[in-house]
Amino acid sequence: MRVTVIGAGYVGLVTAAGFAEFGNEVICVDKVKEKIDTLNRGEIPFYEPGLKELVEKGTKDQRLEFTQDIDRAIKEALVIFIAVGTPPRGDGGADLSHVEEVARTIAKNLNDYKVVVTKSTVPVGTGDKIEAIIEETKKGEVEFDVASNPEFLREGSAVYDFLHPDRVVIGTESDSARAILRDLYRPLYLRDTPFVFTTRKTSELIKYASNSFLAMKISFINEIANLCDLVDADVHVVAKGMGLDGRIGPKFLHPGPGYGGSCFPKDTMALRKIAEEVGYHFKLVNSTIEVNQQQREVAVKKIEEAAGSLKGKTVALLGLSFKPNTDDIRESPAVDIALRLLERGAKIRAFDPAAMKTASEVLKDKGEVLYAKDSYNAAEGADLLVVATEWNQFRNLNLERLKESLKEPVVVDLRNIYEPEKMKSLGFKYWGMGRR
Ligand SMILES: NC(=O)c1ccc[n+]([C@@H]2O[C@H](COP(=O)([O-])OP(=O)(O)OC[C@H]3O[C@@H](n4cnc5c(N)ncnc54)[C@H](O)[C@@H]3O)[C@@H](O)[C@H]2O)c1
Repeated sequence: MRVTVIGAGYVGLVTAAGFAEFGNEVICVDKVKEKIDTLNRGEIPFYEPGLKELVEKGTKDQRLEFTQDIDRAIKEALVIFIAVGTPPRGDGGADLSHVEEVARTIAKNLNDYKVVVTKSTVPVGTGDKIEAIIEETKKGEVEFDVASNPEFLREGSAVYDFLHPDRVVIGTESDSARAILRDLYRPLYLRDTPFVFTTRKTSELIKYASNSFLAMKISFINEIANLCDLVDADVHVVAKGMGLDGRIGPKFLHPGPGYGGSCFPKDTMALRKIAEEVGYHFKLVNSTIEVNQQQREVAVKKIEEAAGSLKGKTVALLGLSFKPNTDDIRESPAVDIALRLLERGAKIRAFDPAAMKTASEVLKDKGEVLYAKDSYNAAEGADLLVVATEWNQFRNLNLERLKESLKEPVVVDLRNIYEPEKMKSLGFKYWGMGRR
């Protein structure tokens, strides 16, 4: 099948390489020249484990092509995936300008029947909008369908998630579009991946409901952790005790400085806005957002408590990306905390295995930040160490060496990657989240 994916970001590029892996002929388009040039040089514009190999395979087998020529890419495809960004607007709603621009370009190049599919996370009713734009802009009597196929991959394990999803959701009222998309996902269909076929609007809502529910779980356990700090209980054991209940499940019960990334913060805000627009006050989503914002300050207060005062102190900061295995720092709690520490007069010695370049663009001119060559180098001469992102390599540090590098043996572990008892026995003053 001939597939075009518009947008070569985290979702678009993985989708394009994934469909090429399924045996389709895929064109991946982006409007940023530098991105396409990078891809055509055989490099990946961002850090995502396993993606380089998958892209290399697709291009070598001539099933995957990168171009800026969107007109040709549209004309040649039967299925067109829209995978451009839908960032938050000032009022919290999703900014659909990129999606709408793409819809107009598709309409101008509609030369025969096509299925236009939104992979981008879009508010309920966006499929209707896209349909209206194409209908108004197209020339002649060419037919098309618009379907919704939200993406659930996680950055850091995006390739695995795309090739082994928990489910595939397809929203369309058109029999032809449904049949074509089922065919496109055939390798997963044959592997017994659950499929949810539904209406376009329901499909659009499934994505926001899923992300907001996961965000709510995180905010919930963060509040339990805050309570644990006050009543002298251990949140890890609480989470374990809860998670063993099959109705609850163990995932997303890890306390920390609040969720971040390009999805949860914007998707919770967008769901609140979607509800607001139809006169519904979504209390749980509101609280989820509020708790998350508050949690950043809980983390900073903890660091402040550990440091005495932050003014003039040097903080070794381990982790800058919003989660491990990515260089994505969009809405990263670690970067937010770094900014708050700088505002309070601290100096930072940061280390992150992948995100120092992306973070340095945001942190430049905001205060004194040194980018270290490794964790021990970050700790050198620092007054305290803060673990802000739970990269695996931080779990396995030589703690004796870390202690020797630090000026004071103080660790604030915002991700609970160390054992409090062990840290204390090694002579550290240790702060975790909900593990006093
Ligand atoms: N990142 C994730 O983990 C994730 C997971 C599931 C869903 N999503 C959703 O997928 C969508 C894309 O997210 P992302 O993280 O891949 O974004 P991204 O910012 O990494 O990539 C978007 C790409 O689209 C390109 N683009 C924008 N307008 C264009 C146009 N008119 N023509 C061609 N290219 C254009 C941009 O240059 C950029 O490369 C969003 O709606 C997001 O909510 C993201």
